[in-house]
Amino acid sequence: MVTGGAGFIGSHLVGKLLMEDFKVIVLDNFFTGSLENIQMYVDNPSFQVIKGDIRGRKVVRETVKEADYIFHLAAIASIPLSFKKPKKINEVNVIGTLNLLEESLNSNVEKFIFTSSCAVYGKPVYIPIDENHPTNPLSPYGVSKLAAEHYCRVFYETYGLKTIILRLFNVYGPGQERSPYRGVISNFIEALRSGRAPVIFGDGEQTRDFIFISDVVNALMLALKAEGVGGMTFNIGSGTETSINKVAEHLLKIFGLDIKPIYTEARAGDIRRSCANINRAREVLGFRASISLDEGLRRYVNALKG
Ligand SMILES: NC(=O)c1ccc[n+]([C@@H]2O[C@H](COP(=O)([O-])OP(=O)(O)OC[C@H]3O[C@@H](n4cnc5c(N)ncnc54)[C@H](O)[C@@H]3O)[C@@H](O)[C@H]2O)c1
Repeated sequence: MVTGGAGFIGSHLVGKLLMEDFKVIVLDNFFTGSLENIQMYVDNPSFQVIKGDIRGRKVVRETVKEADYIFHLAAIASIPLSFKKPKKINEVNVIGTLNLLEESLNSNVEKFIFTSSCAVYGKPVYIPIDENHPTNPLSPYGVSKLAAEHYCRVFYETYGLKTIILRLFNVYGPGQERSPYRGVISNFIEALRSGRAPVIFGDGEQTRDFIFISDVVNALMLALKAEGVGGMTFNIGSGTETSINKVAEHLLKIFGLDIKPIYTEARAGDIRRSCANINRAREVLGFRASISLDEGLRRYVNALKG
């Protein structure tokens, strides 16, 4: 079962699971997800999509009943929206998760893999950020992801439900352009495709850890297959720190454009630096980020050309 399987990351995961001969059920209310993302799977007899809300007890019960493994990706993944509608974010990201966890206990779920976020860490006190770094989220979105993580942990410790938490860093890749909450890379690409200059907030020297979608899907598959990882939390990033200026530079080269980015006021609350320490995922899951930023950007841009 993949909650949020019609979304950016979920739809790529669905493709991989079907390729590996799993039967896949998607539960998604299409809030940000789209049919376009999963259109190519709808005729596959191993694929089923249920339009429903993770806040709805009945639909969750009936879907979870069918599942051996749950990938829980459904969420409202927008920091700006979380400031505007913190209660709604709480309902979907926290209560929705709790619904799934409770129904998993009443069923035969063997593993529950939850996609959390680097937003749980807040402002880094050291870099690279490992899993023991303090968690001080700076947005209602980060709070909701952290609360959901705690529920996953408690359900493991109390009831033995094998929950695994993956804290994803900045994911990018084909399909993200369809998400209304796409990140900086998709915004830059959209601008460059129409010959406009990318807009950079602040001086562009702020850094992030960008990870290509196929590496994230690999991490999810490794979590599915690994033994003895119940109750564990893993950072999933590239382990490389990249400035926003560098991203713009790579993309301008790929597009062969000789234009300068536009610099505008820094965004309030943006952290200065971010980079994942991925040693635990490497050692325990055998994870490695195999796609460099340049390669990932080229693949993304090529995919858009069709
Ligand atoms: N994209 C990233 O860089 C990133 C980074 C860290 C964590 N994450 C996490 O990964 C997961 C997937 O993110 P994404 O980038 O694919 O976002 P996305 O918005 O493309 O996917 C989320 C999916 O959840 C669905 N959804 C939302 N509310 C729902 C509800 N109430 N009931 C059922 N379905 C619902 C949406 O329709 C969408 O298909 C999220 O949990 C997000 O918090 C993403």
